[in-house]
Order: sequence, then structure tokens, then C-alpha cells
Amino acid sequence: MATSQGTWGYRERFGDAFARTYFRRFGPGVTSSIGLGTYLGESTPERDERYRESLTEALAAGINHVDTAINYRYQRSERAVGDALAAADVDREAVVVATKGGFVPFDGTRPDDPGAYVREEFVRPGLLDVDDLAHGSHAIAPAFLSELVDRSRSNLGVDTIDCYYVHNPETQLAVRDRDAVYDRLEAAFEELERRRRAGDVGGYGVATWDAFRVPRDHDAYLSLREVVARADAAAETAGAAESGLEAIQLPFSVTMADAFTVAAHRHPESGDDVSALEYAQATGLDVVASATLAQGELASSIPAAVDAELVGETAAQRAINFARSAPGVTTALVGTSSPAHVPENIAAGTFEPLGARAFDAVFE
Ligand SMILES: NC(=O)c1ccc[n+]([C@@H]2O[C@H](COP(=O)([O-])OP(=O)(O)OC[C@H]3O[C@@H](n4cnc5c(N)ncnc54)[C@H](OP(=O)(O)O)[C@@H]3O)[C@@H](O)[C@H]2O)c1
Repeated sequence: MATSQGTWGYRERFGDAFARTYFRRFGPGVTSSIGLGTYLGESTPERDERYRESLTEALAAGINHVDTAINYRYQRSERAVGDALAAADVDREAVVVATKGGFVPFDGTRPDDPGAYVREEFVRPGLLDVDDLAHGSHAIAPAFLSELVDRSRSNLGVDTIDCYYVHNPETQLAVRDRDAVYDRLEAAFEELERRRRAGDVGGYGVATWDAFRVPRDHDAYLSLREVVARADAAAETAGAAESGLEAIQLPFSVTMADAFTVAAHRHPESGDDVSALEYAQATGLDVVASATLAQGELASSIPAAVDAELVGETAAQRAINFARSAPGVTTALVGTSSPAHVPENIAAGTFEPLGARAFDAVFE
């Protein structure tokens, strides 16, 4: 697993090559504030190889945070990450490995009959009830998640997953009410607390697309305050001194800044409604930003008025620096399967992040 010594040692390798605060505290050690994502792309051996190469290069050059999910590219992304970790000239203890579970994963390719695959692979062996499923493809039932944790550990070739996210739990709101979703999240957290005590996960998180950035009256809304309370309750049930909930993941970019602008979460002290970023800061949760480049779009063009406020030589660097400058964001993920993009993206970290005033100016 990522350790204090391993990640601080990794940071020292780079001396003062990066700007101040490029490395930030995360879990037991430090993480680069730029992470490599593995979501997009066809499920082909060629794309696997590109991800392997990109991650190998990134680990050598200053990125020690990799983000994946068991369902990405039908488990091929996790396996490519595992291959890159095994081949890299970097200790396992130096790297933050994050993955997610929630969507039913296919195995390498899309089966001819997805429904039959789900029944044979998960329902018949008793890992899932049909009632657990939303859209026939998403569940957060404890036994199912626990099985996915083990499959991910195997795909990644690691004993411990540093940060295990419950993946897009708002998907469950399609089939049950909000209180029932919170109950299910609490049961999932209890399982993750057990797996944390066993050393199979270091900490856990909640990865979302809509839940935390939408207004309170939105169908996909989940309250951060309730999620944190459910993690505390799960820790208590599991006999843990404090909860292992350490991070939330949400999209955050120049064109999707709702996590900073939409006040939908009640501040634990003031009682005012604040943004997801402010809430996370107030409660010590790390925020990992996804889709930093708006799935590639921002690498070619950023709205001019905003662009003028940002730092970096290229549009991709400026978009990355927007996300990693936001107050409360620990790491900005950039999906990178082209090895040629790696040096450009890492070099964004040689620029000082925007200060609070400059960041606010982007919104004026
Ligand atoms: N709900 C969730 O949990 C959730 C949702 C979305 C994303 N995520 C995580 O966040 C990560 C990042 O999001 P994302 O991959 O969706 O989108 P993204 O990071 O905004 O964009 C990725 C795209 O940008 C391209 N790109 C990267 N660097 C570039 C550069 N320097 N110049 C030009 N193009 C460049 C990539 O191309 P190449 O591949 O060719 O390099 C890829 O097509 C994901 O990989 C995933 O790990 C999580």
C-alpha cells in the first residue's frame, strides 16, 4: 500500500522540479496533485498498451496517483494499471492506487447477452439479488462490493487498494428513495470498514457524477452531511475509532465548476448552505476532481475570458491548473492514454496554483 515513507520518498526524488504544493497530503502520505485517469477509450489490446505506457511514463516523471474502476473498459483498465505497476521502476509504497466498484463489470469484452452474464456471474452465486440492481447494471450491496474489492485487488496485483470508491451511488436513486440509498450506503461502508481492518483497503470514498454538485432539489442529489454521518455510523458498528471515509470524487473543470458554485450542503458549524468543495474542506475530506479536461474538449479551447486568468503554456495545462487550484481539491485527474500527452500534463505541475483571489477572479 501507499505509505508515508514511500510517498514522501517519491516526492523527494523530484527535488524542486515542481511548484510548491504540487505534492499534497493524502491518506498516510502525499499524492501528486495531478493524477492519471483510465476511463475512456475502446476495449482493445492497443488501448491497453497505450495506458500501460502512459502510466509507466507518468510514474517515472512525477505522477503517483492512478485512478481506475473495475468496470472501465471491461476490467481492461485495471489490468493495464496492474501491469504498469508491476513493471514500473517505482515502489508500490510510493503510489496511491484508487479504484471503484458499483457498476457490474464485464470481463474483457461485452458479452453477447449481458443479462445472462449478470445472472450467471453474480446473481446465481448469491453475490447479488435482482432487487439490488438499478438499470440492470449497478449495485452497492455489501457482498457484491466485497467480491469486486477482491477482483480489483487481483486485477491490480495489489494487496491493498489505497482508496476504494463506491461508484456513482446516485444511480440507485432510480429504483429506491433517498433514505433507502443512504441505508444501503451505510451497509456498503460497514463492509468497507471491515475490509479496511483486514488491510485490503487503506481508506474509502464516494465517487459521483451528479450527486454532490447538483442543487438540493435535484433527483440525483445526495447530502454530503448525511453521507459523512453514515460513514461515522458504519465505523462505530465496525468498532473503528474513526471512519475510513477519506475522499469524494466529482467532476470539476472550467466548464463544470458546480462543486464550487452550487451551495447545496449544510456547513457543519455555521449551518449555512455551502458548496461541495467548501463542505469537504470543512470536514477534512479530500476532493479528487475528475474530467478535468471536460473529456478532452478543454485541451483545444477554453473560453477566452477564463483562459486569460489561468496559468500554463498550453490549454491542457491551464485547464489542469484550474482544477488543481480550486480550494479543497487535492488531486485533479486527467485521463491519459496517449504517452505523448504525459509530459505536457505533468509539466502543468511546474506552475504555481492560482491563489484564492485569482481563483475567484475566474468567476467574475
Ligand atoms: N463518476 C466517476 O467516478 C468518474 C467520471 C468520469 C471520470 N472519472 C475519472 O476521472 C478521470 C478523468 O476524466 P476523463 O478521462 O473522463 O476526462 P478528462 O480527463 O477530462 O479527458 C480525457 C481526454 O483528454 C485527452 N487528453 C489528455 N491530455 C491531453 C492533452 N495534453 N492534450 C490533448 N488531449 C488530452 C485524453 O486523450 P488520450 O487518452 O489520448 O491521452 C482523453 O481523451 C477518468 O479517467 C476517471 O479515472 C470518474
